[in-house]
This record gives sequence, C-alpha cells and structure tokens, in this order.
Amino acid sequence: MAQPLTLTQSHQTTEELVALYGEQVKNIHNEMEAGTSVGAEFLGWRNLPNEAPELDNVMEVAAKIRELAEVVVVIGVGGSYLGSKAVMDALAPYFEKNSDDPEILFAGQNLSGPYMKQLLNHLEGKEAAVIVISKSGTTTEPAIAFRILLEYMENRYGESVNDRIVAITDKSQGALRELADRSGFASFIVPDDVGGRFSVLTPVGLLPLAVAGVDIEQLLSGAKAAVEDFSSADIATNKAYEYAAVRNQLLSEGYNIEILASFTPRFATFHEWWKQLFGESEGKDGKGIYPASVAYPTDLHSLGQYVQDGRRELFETFIQFAESEEDCGIPTSDENLDGLNYLSDKSMNEINEVTMHATMQAHRDGGVPIIHLNVGKHDAYHIGYLIYFFEAACAMSAYLLGVNPFDQPGVEEYKKNIFRMLEKPGVVEEK
Ligand code: PA5
Repeated sequence: MAQPLTLTQSHQTTEELVALYGEQVKNIHNEMEAGTSVGAEFLGWRNLPNEAPELDNVMEVAAKIRELAEVVVVIGVGGSYLGSKAVMDALAPYFEKNSDDPEILFAGQNLSGPYMKQLLNHLEGKEAAVIVISKSGTTTEPAIAFRILLEYMENRYGESVNDRIVAITDKSQGALRELADRSGFASFIVPDDVGGRFSVLTPVGLLPLAVAGVDIEQLLSGAKAAVEDFSSADIATNKAYEYAAVRNQLLSEGYNIEILASFTPRFATFHEWWKQLFGESEGKDGKGIYPASVAYPTDLHSLGQYVQDGRRELFETFIQFAESEEDCGIPTSDENLDGLNYLSDKSMNEINEVTMHATMQAHRDGGVPIIHLNVGKHDAYHIGYLIYFFEAACAMSAYLLGVNPFDQPGVEEYKKNIFRMLEKPGVVEEK
C-alpha cells in the first residue's frame, strides 16, 4: 500500500523549519501532552480514534434507522454537520447511489424558507427519520429546523415518532438535551472535551456516516494510524507539525491567505470542513490565515486568473489522491477533427494529474508558494487519516500563532444582534 500521506513543499527545508520552530513546537506538543496548553480542556479529539466513544451504540442505532427510513434529515450547523457531509460527499458515488442506502439531506445549516418548504414536500410519501445535532443544544438555526421537522414528524408518525428521531448533544445541558430526555427519543453525547469542529469522529459525525453506509470502522482505523504517525514532537518526523510550521512561516512573510485546492470534484465539501476547522480555530485576536478553497480544473477558468496573477499574498495547498479511482480512456477518432488524438493513449485521470502538476508549476512560477499533500488512496481509511492530520496540524498551527485553537468568541457577535432584532425575551435593545 502507498504511504497514507506525503507532504512536499519547497518553501523552506525541513532543517530550516526545525531551526525556526523546532523548540516552540516541542514545547507546545509537551504542553498538549501534559494538558497544560491554553484550551486544554478541549483536547479530547486526540483520543477519539483510539477510544471511539459509543461506537457499538452508533452502529446499532444506525442499523435501525437504515431499516426504517428511506430519507434521513441531519440537522446541524458548523461542526455539527460539516464533518459528516464532507466525508459522505467524498465517498459517495457521483451519480448512482447504492439502493440500500437512505437518502441523506441536511437542514439547520441555513434559514431559507423555500429550502425548508421544499424539504418537507420532498419527505412526503417517503419513510423519514431525523438526526438532530447541536453540542450546545441552543443554536438558533438548527433549533428552528428541528422545531419545524419535529412537528412534521409528530403529525406523520404520532406515538411512534420517537423511533425515528435521534438527538446528539451535551450530556446534561441545553434545550435539546432537555427535549430529548423528556420526549424519550434516543440520544448520544458530544463529549465535554471535544469542540464542534473537532467532533467528526464522535457520534456527531459517525452516526450520520454509518446511516449513510460509510465504513466508519475504516475511517476510525485510518485516524488511529494517524494518531500514531503524528505523535512525535519533532517537526523533522511529524508532517502535521511541518505543515503547521510552514504555514506560520509563510504568514510571517506576508502570505495570509491559504487556498486548499483539489482536482477531485467530490472532495469539495471536505474543503468546507477544512475551512471551518482552520477559520474558526485561527481567526481571532486580529490574527489568522484566511482559509479559502478552489475546485480545479473548474476554478482554473475563474479564480485561476487571480491566483496566477493577482495580489501576491496567497499560498496554495494541493490535495492529490495517489492511487487513481475509476478511469476513462480517451478514444481515438479517425478524422481527428478536434485535434485530440495526441491524447488517445492517455486516460482522464492521467490528464487530470498532468493538469495538476502544470497548475502547481505555473502558480509557483507566478509567486504562489505550494504545499503538496499526496494521499495514498481515495477511501474511508485515508480520509480518516487526513482528518486527524489536519486536526493535529490545526491545533499546532493555532498555538504557534498564539491563539486558543478551541474557542470561537467572534461567533457570538451576530447572535446578539439577531436576538435583539427578533426581540428575544430577556434581550435588551441597545441604544
Ligand atoms: O466548531 C464549533 O464549535 C462551531 O462551529 C459549532 O459546531 C457550531 O456553532 C454549532 O454549534 P452547536 O453544535 O452547539 O449547535
């Protein structure tokens, strides 16, 4: 089997990074190990691949939902849905879905009336189930979606509605916990020491994924291998820490935007998960690297111009899957009217890979530093490995930046305004 992940970057040699960041990285790593780093009460994600809390229960409940439902609505926002959607989309077939798998829809990640109205219409005549996820149990967007969907489900299923609803929330706090305990539907716990954006390997991500038919044991075993591979405090041997260090070095040289790029269309939602992970973890106290993403080659014909030739404050991280997926050859044409016969001994995957290398070279020549992550294979194991790689890198990178990776104080500001504007009882109008 190919190596699960290799990292190549030509911006700074590993020796230079060791000289610049080696000591600091070791100290931060040791503080995380000792549980003395800032925000250490949220370091539980480091144990998830080995501990896999509630895994048997997750499998059992997922099997029941798969039996009952043709369509499952997963309600959540931010870290409460992005991880499961990212992995689901990354592993789903492009067109024909497996007929044993229920359709998975998401709600609570937007406040669109038409979206909800059409979702309810779509559920008509299909056996439905709902998984509602909110660590705090009080987030407005998913709470509204759940109120509407709960009423819909109660009207449809009456007494037996509890078989079709699962809540994933805090063990004792928040409105959703109270609702679950009172109503009696099944529930799972988001561990106290795991924040939303680091929660994909808890029931938050694992239950929807198991319902969707993803091999969550493989996902966890990939993540488990990554725990082992990224356990060293040494940048020279720990690629997650090398990634964290080179990002910070680039930032110190004025590269304050990182673009995650891939040539695999079904990886686009994973970019969204990555953006949330790094954006919420690092963007605070006036600091951070702005995380952006592109889906190439599509975006070579839109943002590609800017990346090649716009303001020089960008660096790009390319994700490639080494072992090709299914492939499609280029046919030879007798008349060759389109002039493409020069490609007819090649396949689409080969041309896709050449396009990626051509892009990396062009952007590097245009002044965009490049980081290249080569992932062994496009499967659940390697996606699990990549998830842990990014989590470990993100925590280290945020600490190097001098911020707490695990809080998100800025997210509260807009909430205060909506509560005031919607006249939530107890919220005072500011003059
Ligand atoms: O990473 C985080 O903590 C946030 O993005 C949350 O996941 C998001 O705000 C949703 O919060 P909750 O799960 O409490 O509804």
